[in-house]
Amino acid sequence: MHTYSEHLKINKNSWDAASERFFGRTALPDYGPYAPSENQLQLFGEIAGKRALEIGCGSGHSIQYMLNNGAAEVWGLDLSSKQIEAAKRVTGSNSQVRLFESPMEENPGLPDNYFDVAYSIYAIGWTLDLSQTLANIHRYLKKGGTFIFSWEHPIHSRVIFDNGSAQFNECYYEEIPALHKAWKPQPAIFHHRKLSTYINELVSSGFMVEKVIEEVEWPAAARGNETTWYSDLKANYFPATMIIKSKKL
Ligand SMILES: C[S@@+](CC[C@H](N)C(=O)[O-])C[C@H]1O[C@@H](n2cnc3c(N)ncnc32)[C@H](O)[C@@H]1O
Repeated sequence: MHTYSEHLKINKNSWDAASERFFGRTALPDYGPYAPSENQLQLFGEIAGKRALEIGCGSGHSIQYMLNNGAAEVWGLDLSSKQIEAAKRVTGSNSQVRLFESPMEENPGLPDNYFDVAYSIYAIGWTLDLSQTLANIHRYLKKGGTFIFSWEHPIHSRVIFDNGSAQFNECYYEEIPALHKAWKPQPAIFHHRKLSTYINELVSSGFMVEKVIEEVEWPAAARGNETTWYSDLKANYFPATMIIKSKKL
């Protein structure tokens, strides 16, 4: 039986090893595979002059997007030292940016009631403790502040597409941390959660859910065939990505 800190170590090593492969791969204005983009959705509204915080900032490309749109400050945190190094390279020595190498489950010294907007692009679901992570984000935001995240739709990892048909290969209701079946090159711990769990945890952490997006947007070119994790074939049946916008009450 692994503990929280052992799981965190496994995921840090895994993300350090995967960092290069994910350089700029899932970043604003894109929300993730088969999702409509921020250009279409306009969930953030006016970014100019805002203080923004990114949870799981990866290679820093979304931070750069926020700066390009006039954000006053953008702070980012990420578990992986390699990802933070990449984010430093991408955002340069911009004095409006502050980066923290830290698990999202812990507070590396971020201020309370400071940010207008917090966001997370395909990272929040890596948390090993969703309620603690949401409690942290709630503290960092000002009252009325916005929290937007995208993540893999919880149905997506439960279904495989094989021989022309979609089949459930894992239980949708199961909510336990487990080794991710398709993750390479090093093992990673993935905690599956139901869509209702994300919504209910947001509500019990003091957020009001404003929008849930499950719409599918087709990329110009096919992404992959039935053997790839994200594919046109799967997207015919269920969303790859979900996006949730909420507000701190
Ligand atoms: C798919 S990437 C996000 C990509 C990011 N949007 C970008 O533009 O590069 C997921 C990120 O979550 C980070 N991560 C994983 N577990 C984490 C945790 N417990 N706390 C903080 N960050 C974590 C990984 O290091 C990785 O950078």
